[in-house]
Amino acid sequence: MSNTATIEINGKKYEMPILTGTENEIAIDISSFRSQSGVITLDQGYKNTGSCESEITFLDGEKGILRYRGYSIEELAEKASFLEVCYLLIFGELPNKVQLEKFHNDIREQSIVADDMKKILDGFPQSAHPMGVLSSLTSALVAFNPSSVQVSSEEAMYKAIVKILGKFPVLVAWTHRKRLGYPYEYGDEDLGYVENIAKMMFKKPNKEYKSNPVVIDALDKLLILHADHEQNCSTSTVRIVGSSHAGLFASLAAGISALWGPLHGGANQAVIEMLEAIKEDGGDTKKYMGKAKDKDDPFRLMGFGHRVYKNFDPRAKIIKKSADEVLSSLGIVDPILDIAKGLEKEALEDPYFVDRKLYPNVDFYSGIIYRALNIPTEMFTVMFALGRLPGWIAQWREMRLKKEPIGRPRQLYQGYTHRPFKSVDDR
Ligand code: ACO
Repeated sequence: MSNTATIEINGKKYEMPILTGTENEIAIDISSFRSQSGVITLDQGYKNTGSCESEITFLDGEKGILRYRGYSIEELAEKASFLEVCYLLIFGELPNKVQLEKFHNDIREQSIVADDMKKILDGFPQSAHPMGVLSSLTSALVAFNPSSVQVSSEEAMYKAIVKILGKFPVLVAWTHRKRLGYPYEYGDEDLGYVENIAKMMFKKPNKEYKSNPVVIDALDKLLILHADHEQNCSTSTVRIVGSSHAGLFASLAAGISALWGPLHGGANQAVIEMLEAIKEDGGDTKKYMGKAKDKDDPFRLMGFGHRVYKNFDPRAKIIKKSADEVLSSLGIVDPILDIAKGLEKEALEDPYFVDRKLYPNVDFYSGIIYRALNIPTEMFTVMFALGRLPGWIAQWREMRLKKEPIGRPRQLYQGYTHRPFKSVDDR
């Protein structure tokens, strides 16, 4: 194959280099196209635009493949812990025992959040959406940890990374406890990373905390499955904010806001709200299937379809199994789940969904597990953020180490051409 692509405009030809990725993906490097031709490329929603070269995550939406640093998501979910996956994503290799222990200890050292942060938390109404609270608290961490902003060495980067891995779960737990009206917890250094998170979140003030291995295992898997997904909306946000050298915590706060939306991380909350609404309305799944297919109705079946997975979402397969295990182990009987199963079955057989390759995505099942674990619906996206944290960090670190330029897209202006100003009396 030729190693250049030719673009011809008005009879003039421009040669653009062709790059090949390690999985044989092909990209045309158009970075010098505008300077050569004065012409830009337009691609709303970036459906066809690569924003970077990355070594972190590979996914093939057509084949349903997802790999972190070359390891398949199926194997990682089965055999690795979330903390191992954090290390793998951020530093590129699975840690040996010594590296893992040091990493965990460094994180433990940094897991105290300044007590004054509680005052910020207290300022929020109890009804505040936890994603807004989490984003604000993550931003506020900058003020309490100013040394984490300007990271000019790998050592400074490492310190900022273990700091956020230590403090973020505390913020997540406090956000949850604020909603419940429970006192804030600092957890237990002796526990595993995920077990400690569960304790910080779920420990009742008047009861000894006992961890359930099925719950910890399901949480571990969910966090691993959400840990990275290459250049999605929130990750691109983290990279683009980070490209201005705004600092890790500020970049993460922006990523959290991006994840909040119902078309992205907010979908798991939207799934349960949709199922509840269907139940309230008499449980008629066929009616809602009809609404989803009606082009004049804005309703979409939440938890179905994916921007890149057009055959199946490999994470959904793994988590469906986990959902079944959690539900049967906890003995959960929930009418919402029957509605979910009904919708799943109907959509998988319906030509509208089959033709458009719309399958249940990871959020369809993760919402069901979180609900079984008694996690309030509004906290679902917070759990997603907790899982995505190492991916965001890894992408930010890669972007900084590669010294990527500041992100600055172009536009095709379609507004008024120049027009004279009219004074207010003449308008
Ligand atoms: N329900 C009904 N119809 C749908 C759905 C849905 N959930 N998703 C897509 N479609 C239809 C569209 O109307 C469109 O139909 P058309 O070709 O007749 O116009 C076709 O399928 C293609 O849809 P697009 O919006 O072009 O697909 P895109 O790749 O842009 O969108 C998205 C993907 C945003 C995920 C979409 O499927 C959706 O809104 N799903 C529901 C929300 C959701 O579950 N989001 C979670 C994504 S996973 C994550 O963020 C971790």
